[in-house]
Order: sequence, then structure tokens, then C-alpha cells
Amino acid sequence: MILLKIGGSVLTDKARASTVRKDFLRMVAQQIANAKRDDLVLVHGAGSFGHPQAAAYLSKGRSISDAWKTHRAVSSLNTLFINELHSQRVPALPIHPLDSITLDGGRIARFDMAVLGLMLENDIIPVLHGDIVLDSADGFNILSGDQIVAFLAQRMQPEKIGIGTDVDGIIYKGEKISHLNANEFENYRKEIVGSSVVDVTGGMLRKVSELVEIAKAGIQSEIFNATRGGNIAKFLISNQQVGTIISIGTK
Ligand code: IPE
Repeated sequence: MILLKIGGSVLTDKARASTVRKDFLRMVAQQIANAKRDDLVLVHGAGSFGHPQAAAYLSKGRSISDAWKTHRAVSSLNTLFINELHSQRVPALPIHPLDSITLDGGRIARFDMAVLGLMLENDIIPVLHGDIVLDSADGFNILSGDQIVAFLAQRMQPEKIGIGTDVDGIIYKGEKISHLNANEFENYRKEIVGSSVVDVTGGMLRKVSELVEIAKAGIQSEIFNATRGGNIAKFLISNQQVGTIISIGTK
């Protein structure tokens, strides 16, 4: 099984509310179609279909109405993405975290994976997404696609885990590093560049922290630039490295 997250920065224009990057949506779907993998689990982020709405939810009294607007925005991106996948003949269906996951203090506490398992058995590609989710500690919380990836990585032991973003990998002192040793993460932490736009889930640093945790449990992952032509296909069908590998030790 391959686990691939496509960041909201790839599918949407993060600077403009609910604006999709149509050309990238198509390019991503085409590469997934060409790879012809039926053992794939997709997760996507929210970008401008969720981060601004989630920021409003968090700052404006945490109303159910704002929670709904957040879920509605990211669900509509999910629908657009799945429509594009279907137009490329990829048999994909949604799994919405709001309906299937609960959190405790912001971390996944329960996830009923029966639907996901049956989808894979039927050669259907599940498409999950970052979402606003009920939290047993307090109302709703924002669940990032990256936390979903980390959770599924530990439960399902995928053969490959990829995080497609709009940067080339982990940028340290202006340059992409090809490998991050999870044990040395603390040395890098201060220098990892964050996001310049509204990002309620903590941007690159938070993403890398999730991946460092799974690396410490022995699970390797790769952050790469999914906006560059061919990188998704290379990740899915070859062993060629396209971004920064995060693992334990020195590779
Ligand atoms: C964010 O998910 C979910 C919401 C804001 C509702 P992600 O954190 O995975 O989204 P991106 O990839 O950063 O856009």
C-alpha cells in the first residue's frame, strides 16, 4: 500500500479564499491515473478551502455554524478532487474525518477503519482530507491531513509514504536537504521555514514533526514538490528520490 498526501498548497491558491488551482488538480489526477495503483490511499489538505474558515471558527466563538463552514469548504475541495480523479478513470471515493474520526486533545483517539479497509478490498481509492473533527476534550478541533498520514502509517505499515507540497522538500538555510535524520530534528527545528499564509495546523514545522515521530517508530517518509512535473508519478512508480527523506539514522 502507498500512502500519499497532496497538500492544500498544491490543489488550491492559498492566498485566495476557496480558489482551486485547476491545472494542478488535473496534473495531480493524471499522474495518479497513469501510475495505475489500486493499493493507494490518498489524503489531501485544505489550503484556501478550510484554513481561512478554520481560523474564523477558532477566533469567532467556535460556533457550530463556523465548524460547518469549515467542513463544507474542505468537503467541496474533496468533491472537486474526486471528480477530477473520476474524469481520469481513477475509482476514488471520499472518507470524511468528521464522520469517522474523533479526537482527544487534538490527537486522533478513534478512527473506524472498516470502510477504508473495504474500499481497498474493492480496489477503490479512499480519499481522506484534513477536517474539523469532534474532540472529546473540547468541542471541535482541526485535524491536519499530516496527522491522518502519521496515524495511517502506524496502523497500515505502507510500503511508501509521500507528502506532496509546493516546496522541494525540507529547506534548511536556503537549501533542500536530501535526508533528515529524525534523531537530529532538534538541530533543525528553529530553521525550518513556516508558511506565510493562514495556516491553522502549523505549516511545515508541524508537518515535519509528525513525520519525525513516525520515523522514530521506524517508518520512513518523503516530502517532495508535487507541483513539479512528474514528481508524483516518479514517487508512485519508481524508486527515484524526489524530495527530502525523513527516517531514523543516516539513510
Ligand atoms: C487542514 O488540513 C484542515 C483544515 C484547515 C480544515 P491540512 O493542514 O492537512 O491542510 P494543508 O495541506 O496545510 O492545506
